[in-house]
Amino acid sequence: MDPDFKWGVSTAAYQIEGGHDAHGKGLSIWDVFTAKGSCHERHHGNTACDFYNRYKDDVALINELNIPNFRFSLSWSRIIPNGIGEVNPEGIAYYNRLIDECLANGIEPWITLYHWDLPHELELKGGWANREIVDWFAEYVRVCAEAFGDRVKYWMVMNEPMVFTGAGYFMGIHAPGRRGLGNFLPAVHHAVLAMAEGGRVLKALLPEAEVGTTFSGSYIQPKTDSPKDIIAAQRVDALLNRLFIEPLLGFGYPEADLPVLKKIRKHFKEGDEAKMVFTFDFIGIQNYTREVVKHSVITPYVNAVLVDAKKRQVPLTAMGWEVYPPAIYQMIKKFNEYDGITKIYITENGAAFPDTMVDGKVIDTERMAYIQNHLKQVKKAKDEGLEVSGYFVWTLTDNFEWNEGYRPKFGLIHVDFETQQRTVKASGKWYGKFLGGD
Ligand code: NOJ
Repeated sequence: MDPDFKWGVSTAAYQIEGGHDAHGKGLSIWDVFTAKGSCHERHHGNTACDFYNRYKDDVALINELNIPNFRFSLSWSRIIPNGIGEVNPEGIAYYNRLIDECLANGIEPWITLYHWDLPHELELKGGWANREIVDWFAEYVRVCAEAFGDRVKYWMVMNEPMVFTGAGYFMGIHAPGRRGLGNFLPAVHHAVLAMAEGGRVLKALLPEAEVGTTFSGSYIQPKTDSPKDIIAAQRVDALLNRLFIEPLLGFGYPEADLPVLKKIRKHFKEGDEAKMVFTFDFIGIQNYTREVVKHSVITPYVNAVLVDAKKRQVPLTAMGWEVYPPAIYQMIKKFNEYDGITKIYITENGAAFPDTMVDGKVIDTERMAYIQNHLKQVKKAKDEGLEVSGYFVWTLTDNFEWNEGYRPKFGLIHVDFETQQRTVKASGKWYGKFLGGD
């Protein structure tokens, strides 16, 4: 691979930090959602991997594994406890220490500004369904750019907006646990506006920075070649893969393929068509699997269902997701087809498997094979001349996997959550070697 290719590892604040009420941090929607016992076995991120206190050790591990780029997110409510208003100097100081620790170890910090942990106070004001969030978010972005922009070159405005709006505001299985189109559609529109506005704020304050945003992307295939299944697959593709990128690129929402999206217009204000557009320096694609889709009359709005991977008798991860490496190639190809995208990084790819510790070792051959086989597909894309400039493994350590709690283990590094002891898995050792160590 070319020497400029960015190799890295990705994390997110709520999934690893803990320190949920440390040093002036305000509550986030995930603190509140987990306190209600809404996740697997009432798991929560109050302590998580204790990265808040152990960041030095973990950055040292990243260094030991020769990983040159570390993607992490900032907790909005650690920085601005109520989401708007007063800034918490201890929150800023914490991320300054983390950034400096990365740099001291020769590791490039890549910041995600929003990885789903909205300040709870803002949710009380309507959260993503309230249009004012565009201004609240822009102000938060400004604070972060001014605090950290002198040392951080790579920025991602949002992480997978389809997931936090879909799971959090439509299905109610993620924080804040809201449901229905009446929550989902305004949340989508405001997330698009906030993403574009966040990009503009960063670029204005940090013209030298590389500014991007990240999207989930699953390769969608129809179950059969019947026209009904093919059209159902197009609707699902519009929802899962095109809903956020296309308005940014100036195409508007993909209403032609998913007519229910016409209802978003109700939330438009004058000038929104232009405000939704922003040219990011890069797009982060996060791929884990493919989905097989069939027509369904009983599913409202999309008239389609995903055929459960378990029923398809295919290899599965502990999330129940199909292991299908060509999906990553297909997503690279799909995003390459948009003229407005000039740079692509795979900002997440990885897998959960039921690891076992034997004699102090975790030999996670399935995860290693998963990563290696996906990398072959990334290389195939690159060899064919498609644009793809980096690859980040999800994730550094086993951590809090949202509504699934600590059950699924995605880490290159095992964590004993009783003792917080870290053990590098075989996959981590392999990745470290692959990246040029010993
Ligand atoms: C994408 C999300 O960004 C991350 O938070 C999550 O843990 C992984 N996918 C795995 O589900």
